[in-house]
Amino acid sequence: MRRCLCPGSYDPITRGHLDVIARAARLYDEVVVGVLENAGKNALFSATERVGLIEAELAELDLPGRVRVVTFGGRLLVDVCRDLGVEAVVKGLRGEADYAYELPMAIMNRHLSGVETLFMPGDPRYVQVSSSLIKEVTRFGGDVGALVGPHVLAALRARLGDGAGPAGPGAG
Ligand code: PNS
Repeated sequence: MRRCLCPGSYDPITRGHLDVIARAARLYDEVVVGVLENAGKNALFSATERVGLIEAELAELDLPGRVRVVTFGGRLLVDVCRDLGVEAVVKGLRGEADYAYELPMAIMNRHLSGVETLFMPGDPRYVQVSSSLIKEVTRFGGDVGALVGPHVLAALRARLGDGAGPAGPGAG
């Protein structure tokens, strides 16, 4: 069983994330999506909500390999990798800023345990997509319908409204 981990905050998952997970699923027997439980005090969705949204969006896709979603927190990613038996971390890169952010973590993780990180070029259709921009645009009434899945879109609108007012609970 060849297994990889796609870790992240996923607050919420975007079509950019889904693209990377789907492509990883073509390369590995199993993809584990690792959701960081404490995504910061500004997290819009709880870890349970984020997992639910990821599972709902994955169910919309016809993925070849097995994909499952786990949460983790308060520990090193390399320890999560060891416990899950993953051979690599897979991360998408939208550009130089992502590379600058990801490279030190990839090298540190390899230093700590030998786990490799594989960088996958992000699909150009989603180069402008980040969870934080998605939330901001939704908050002010912009249309992100092409950039997130239907379940995430509904959850964003329910939590943040259609630009009609202040952010909902937990919006930070
Ligand atoms: O979606 P994000 O916020 O870019 O994901 C970052 C994540 C979860 C991959 C990173 O914060 C992480 O690995 N956290 C676990 C703690 C850890 O191992 N930190 C040291 C990394 S070298």
